[in-house]
Amino acid sequence: MRVFVTGASGWIGSAVVPELLRHGHEVLGLARSDASAQAVAATGAEVLRGDLDTLDVLQEGARQSDAVIHLAFVHDFGNFADSLRKDRAAIEAIGEALEGSGKAFAIASGTLGITPGRVATEHDQPDPATAHPRQQSAAAALALQNRGVRPIVVRLAPSVHGAGDHGFAAVLVAVARERGVAGYVGTGENRWTAVHRDDAATLFRLAVEKAPAGAVLHGVAEEAITAREIAEAIGRGLGLPTGPAAPEDFGWIGPMFAGDSPASSTVTRELLGWEPTGPGLIEDLAHYVR
Ligand SMILES: NC(=O)c1ccc[n+]([C@@H]2O[C@H](COP(=O)([O-])OP(=O)(O)OC[C@H]3O[C@@H](n4cnc5c(N)ncnc54)[C@H](OP(=O)(O)O)[C@@H]3O)[C@@H](O)[C@H]2O)c1
Repeated sequence: MRVFVTGASGWIGSAVVPELLRHGHEVLGLARSDASAQAVAATGAEVLRGDLDTLDVLQEGARQSDAVIHLAFVHDFGNFADSLRKDRAAIEAIGEALEGSGKAFAIASGTLGITPGRVATEHDQPDPATAHPRQQSAAAALALQNRGVRPIVVRLAPSVHGAGDHGFAAVLVAVARERGVAGYVGTGENRWTAVHRDDAATLFRLAVEKAPAGAVLHGVAEEAITAREIAEAIGRGLGLPTGPAAPEDFGWIGPMFAGDSPASSTVTRELLGWEPTGPGLIEDLAHYVR
């Protein structure tokens, strides 16, 4: 297959591209700058210059390909409404280009806050009243099933980790460094999920290869790691004490790190034969937190 990948230069995209190429696919990778274009080309993918605002380019990439993996996202938590608007517009534009084609269109979403306090499964639909606003993008993607597209939503664990991680775990490490303590909220018994970046990449490949239209998948290798275990691993790595903190101490990530969001991936594993093999989050933190 020829697969159009947005966010091809990003943390997850730069693992997805080689994963696709290794399995005999061709990749067309979106790049918005010279540096990103060079990075994408270096992985062996063909480059398509454009960004999330050039909707015609996104549509062209989708039309030229057999499947789309949408990973580009503006991680500007100071103007999150605009990030959501761009994400939604990109999904709708790509969906329009794919209308009636039956082509696979996989997007990245998240497991946080789907069923607070209970293990979320792939069958759980978030409550629009309380869900993270980003779930609206997932709903928009799934609605494309009625327009002859094969949409797939990959709900990723909040920690997609590995060496070089600059995601949520890296933010927690930076906060601990700044505060001189590796914190958790309350008793720290609230649960997060995690997946290694390489396992997430495999899941995106399997998704476009064989997930059915409307599939909701969980990119979750570890279904429940407590915030306290994460804080203790960070504390060990940095040589800092561990202790309770207020959600505000963590800045924008506080409400997410304070939430209880366990999630399973049993349905995903059975559907696609996906078997994560990467190291767990705590083991990985021991390797790269110093
Ligand atoms: N990493 C995680 O732990 C995690 C967890 C849950 C969900 N997710 C989701 O998974 C997806 C991929 O995440 P990631 O960790 O790979 O993110 P990332 O490392 O921040 O990469 C983001 C990608 O989007 C591109 N991008 C940003 N703004 C753009 C714009 N205006 N136009 C075009 N491209 C743009 C970036 O291009 P440049 O290289 O040019 O900057 C980069 O390729 C995102 O939707 C993210 O929210 C990630």
